[in-house]
Amino acid sequence: MAGTETPRFKQWQLSTTLGIDGLNLVEDASIAQVGDEEVLVEMHAASLNFLDLFVAKGGQPGTLEQQPNPGLVTGCDGSGIIKAVGAAVKDFAPGDRIVTHLIGRIPDDAKVDFDSLRSSLGMGTNGTLTQYGKFHHSNLVHAPRSLSFEQAATLPCSGLTAYNALFGLGGRQVQRDQWVLVQGTGGVSVAALQIAVAVGAHVVATTSSAEKAVKLEILGAKHVLNYRDTPEWGVPARAFTPGKVGFDHVVDIGGDATLGESVKAVKTDGVVSTIGLLGGPADQQVPMMAAFQNACIVRGLVAGTRQQMRDFVAFVDEKGMKPALDDMVFGIEDARKAYWRQERQQHFPRWSSSCTVEALQVVRYLREEV
Ligand SMILES: NC(=O)c1ccc[n+]([C@@H]2O[C@H](COP(=O)([O-])OP(=O)(O)OC[C@H]3O[C@@H](n4cnc5c(N)ncnc54)[C@H](OP(=O)(O)O)[C@@H]3O)[C@@H](O)[C@H]2O)c1
Repeated sequence: MAGTETPRFKQWQLSTTLGIDGLNLVEDASIAQVGDEEVLVEMHAASLNFLDLFVAKGGQPGTLEQQPNPGLVTGCDGSGIIKAVGAAVKDFAPGDRIVTHLIGRIPDDAKVDFDSLRSSLGMGTNGTLTQYGKFHHSNLVHAPRSLSFEQAATLPCSGLTAYNALFGLGGRQVQRDQWVLVQGTGGVSVAALQIAVAVGAHVVATTSSAEKAVKLEILGAKHVLNYRDTPEWGVPARAFTPGKVGFDHVVDIGGDATLGESVKAVKTDGVVSTIGLLGGPADQQVPMMAAFQNACIVRGLVAGTRQQMRDFVAFVDEKGMKPALDDMVFGIEDARKAYWRQERQQHFPRWSSSCTVEALQVVRYLREEV
């Protein structure tokens, strides 16, 4: 055990009331000590994800059951500085800059599934919307040297998921001059756009907003389609690729509402990564036969491994990639406003992680108060 004895600090917890307004700001949290395998972190930034909204509303992955978990510290993404480590922790030391990793206590190369997701930070394990956090060491990796705390805080959930989509399937890693399609301006999609641009791939994006289309182009999208004006965007998007052969990668975050267009847009033997369900229920579910009819690979994936997170951190440093941040930054007391901003889809960019990549840099301005 390592003595820690933090001052009193602020953190956000789930309460018995579901919904964003049910989130509870605790003003006098404290941590007395950390266990042998634990690490005490002074948090500097956190970034919201769709997952955080889902949890606040009482959802669990794979179901829509309402399961409040009162007292759990919310938030899955964050960054900070280590203040103390337990006796058995060998890979970190006080003073190290870290980012969180969604799912700990499994081997570093273990694939994540919906069952393990239930134990993720902010869902089954105390999370990041706190001025000090106590984490199992396997829930952390070293932060990129080249990023601020705010930028680094956007990497864990949506960033890692996007990295896994584009690099996680052996033999299909995204390459220079390939074509990638991303959907909308949420955390996963903006991260995927930036990762693809960083390797020299060509990106086509969809969005519902003319204003956001401009931002997508600034971030490097070659073409942008409005999915409200052109609900059947699959064939028009494909027409942007040389010879109209289709995309090497389609990063699908809409689920049944978008998969039908995604398989029309992808090229023969290209990869459609099915990641989310933001499009809501569709009139018809897309049959598995769509993969046969369009001769493509459809790959479901959940977040990524801890080793992929380390690889992603190295990628970010090597490529000099700077995650796009939301225009708004909130202090920790205003985290609920950030949740509402994300709920209303006003954030952009942000990845995952986060209304910014929206970064909810909740702790940033509060250090001096601790
Ligand atoms: N599999 C995993 O491990 C994993 C990890 C992270 C997230 N996810 C899932 O991936 C999805 C995205 O997460 P996120 O954090 O990126 O969400 P987010 O930041 O909340 O994304 C919001 C944006 O999605 C876009 N969008 C909504 N419906 C769309 C549609 N029908 N077509 C295209 N774009 C649409 C909108 O973009 P515009 O405003 O530009 O229209 C909206 O602003 C969620 O379902 C989340 O649960 C899964």
